[in-house]
Amino acid sequence: MSEVLLVDEIACENGDGFIAKVTINRPDKLNSLNANVMTKMKEMATWVNSNDDVRCVIITGAKPNPPTEGKRMKPNAFVAGADITEFVGASSEDIRSDFEDNGCESIWNITKPTIAMIDGFALGGGCEIACVCDIRIASKRSMFGTPEIKLGLIPGFGGTQRLVKIVGLGKTMEMVMSGEPISADEALAIGLANHIVEHDKLEEKTMLIAQTIASKSMHTLNVAKKTIRAALDNGITEGVKIEANEFANLFDTEDKEIGVQAFLSRETPNWKHR
Ligand code: COA
Repeated sequence: MSEVLLVDEIACENGDGFIAKVTINRPDKLNSLNANVMTKMKEMATWVNSNDDVRCVIITGAKPNPPTEGKRMKPNAFVAGADITEFVGASSEDIRSDFEDNGCESIWNITKPTIAMIDGFALGGGCEIACVCDIRIASKRSMFGTPEIKLGLIPGFGGTQRLVKIVGLGKTMEMVMSGEPISADEALAIGLANHIVEHDKLEEKTMLIAQTIASKSMHTLNVAKKTIRAALDNGITEGVKIEANEFANLFDTEDKEIGVQAFLSRETPNWKHR
């Protein structure tokens, strides 16, 4: 797709379509999000939503390059936040439109399942990219945090709003107000990470989950994602009504019949909405 955003197409095990592995590729700057990455992210999201062959998206950060002579190896990073060099001298006018319509929101608006595969620092915008993905899988050496307060800022890619839904009010307050990072163990304990594994098992674990999800009906996955998301914008009474309606609608789909018949005949379902 571009040098700052690499896309690998990994074939689905059921032989249909592929999993798009999207790598943010600025390892020398800890994969920080500059304007170029954000533009490419938006293009990638549009491409994913319009390409029927993409069944699941994995977002990750590039591994560090080997060190140049006399220099130390850069640390592992998922994403170490927005590119701070772009903040120098910037005014609200410069920033406002970029932050209202940004690459994080475009990932949030992907209609297919998304997984953040995190190995290393997930700070600021990195934590926020993780939060816009449906599932977060991290290596044990990862660190999560919202250090913007140290720059006189707060999270700007939806972090205050989404983190609070994932980890609750108290933990969000502490993370945002202190700016201090938390370990992968703590991220797991507070529900920020779905799974943590040794770094050499991260890809395997992520692919296992991606392949399991990608083998389901794309239509049903889409309905599941939007119905679960409805819990963010609605109270329980309204949310349960939305779910009941979506559940009932699925009874008019061929995939419901295919799934039920496949279960009864002990076969693998051959989904219509692949
Ligand atoms: N924006 C721009 N450049 C960044 C960056 C960011 N958010 N995070 C790291 N980098 C760059 C560093 O400037 C450095 O570049 P250089 O080698 O050309 O000087 C390179 O990435 C490596 O980072 P460095 O700070 O040397 O690594 P470290 O191991 O000493 O520290 C961190 C790692 C993650 C603790 C540290 O880089 C950091 O605090 N980054 C900023 C995190 C942040 O505040 N994010 C929120 C932004 S809103």
